[in-house]
This record gives sequence, C-alpha cells and structure tokens, in this order.
Amino acid sequence: MALPLRLGVNIDHVATVRNARGGVVPDPVRAALLAASAGADGITAHLREDRRHITDADIARLVGQLAALDRAIPLNLEMAATEEMLGIALRHRPHAACIVPEKREERTTEGGLDVAGQHDVLAPMVRALREAGVRVSLFIEPSPEQIAAAVSLGAPVVELHTGRYADTEGEARAGELRRLSDAAALAAKNGIEVHAGHGLTFDNVQPIAAIPQVVELNIGHFLVGEAIFVGLYESVRRMKAEMAAAR
Ligand code: PXP
Repeated sequence: MALPLRLGVNIDHVATVRNARGGVVPDPVRAALLAASAGADGITAHLREDRRHITDADIARLVGQLAALDRAIPLNLEMAATEEMLGIALRHRPHAACIVPEKREERTTEGGLDVAGQHDVLAPMVRALREAGVRVSLFIEPSPEQIAAAVSLGAPVVELHTGRYADTEGEARAGELRRLSDAAALAAKNGIEVHAGHGLTFDNVQPIAAIPQVVELNIGHFLVGEAIFVGLYESVRRMKAEMAAAR
C-alpha cells in the first residue's frame, strides 16, 4: 500500500497577478484559504530575494491565517540559502522550509540545489532550522549524488525536481521518470521523506503521483493558470482527484 499523497498548493502566481498592478488584489492569502477548502493539504509560498511575487507581509498573514483555520494546514516556505531568509524563517517558524537555489535573472527555479557542492553553507542552516522545529526540505535533482549529500546533511525531507520530466517527451521523459523513481526509492531507503514538484499538470501528474515513496506534491503555476478557466476551487479539487486516481 502506498503512503497517502498530499497536495501543497503554491500560491506565488496569485501574487504575481496582484503585483502586476501593484495593488492588493487578487490576494494570495484568500487563494490559500480557498485552496484549503478545496482539499489542499498545505500551502507553499516562495519568498524570493527580489520579492517579485510573495512579500514579507504575505508570509506574516499566511502564518496567522492558516494556523487559525478549523482544519489548520501547514505552510511550506520556499527560501534561498541566505542569512536574510534564514532569519525570516526562524522568526515565523513555518511548519516546513524548502531550501531552493535562486538566481535573480531566472524566471522560475531552474534546476535543483547543489547540495553536494554547498555542504558547508547548508549544514549550519539545516541545523538552525531543525533546532527551531522547522521541517527542512532540500529541492534537488533526482540524482544519487544529491541524495547522498542530503543524507550527510541530515535533511529529513527532499523535494525532487520534476521540471525536466515535465519539459520532455517520449523516451527522454520515460528516462527522467525512472530517475525520479530510483531517487525516491533511494531517499526513502535512507529514511528521508520524499516530495516532488515543478511543472506538474493534470496531464503529467499521474506517473509522479504513482511513485509509492512520494508523499507530497507541490504544484503552483498550472493550478493558478487553470483557475482562470474553472476557478481555483475546481482546479485544486481536480488535481487532488487526479493524484488520488494514480495512487
Ligand atoms: N516546488 C518548488 C521547490 C518550487 O520552487 C516550485 C516553483 O516555485 C514548485 C514546486 C512549483 O512549481 P510549479 O509552479 O511549476 O507548479
């Protein structure tokens, strides 16, 4: 029996639309509450260094309002490995923090974190977050080297980057799916909880949802885009149904 599979809804791009006009609507916190009512198991938000979508004030409101729900749902803060972000995470103590690579000029998170190459920067950060009771996850490429590095850092969770899987087709996609599956099995064998995300849609989510060791998917851009046509409630509800059908 596969473990239950959670959906973390990433609300960054609701803030992208809001910021296009610099006002207060659409409100990403309202989107988070609606996603929760549609079955989201968690909310994910990436506070980027340039604050291009989610802002510090959004994070403060999310922390307060998600905790106040009848069915409180966890916040997963995506953050770069910087002192500034560490300070913010330690102040708010979200349920989880996912450390991601971040480049100012990128459009979205391109590629995974080089855990192997950044051990000395990441080790004190992982330790500080763990000591504060924050569940640390590392966003990595599905490779044995990165899993081994995550093990040596004592990270309790890894999130496998599904971007290449989502961007390829045919044989290339099948090969990428095998890499994801093997990485998930290797991480779980080493006692690490496995999440996955990036570029997932109704059409490509099921093979990832079927990987038995994966217990959480974080999905944003597609769900917010689909919400334009069917509404956010329906977009989240259907994604949960697609995931459940694959399990
Ligand atoms: N997981 C991580 C670590 C991410 O950085 C992102 C993008 O912000 C996602 C999941 C969601 O990706 P997408 O918006 O393509 O669904």
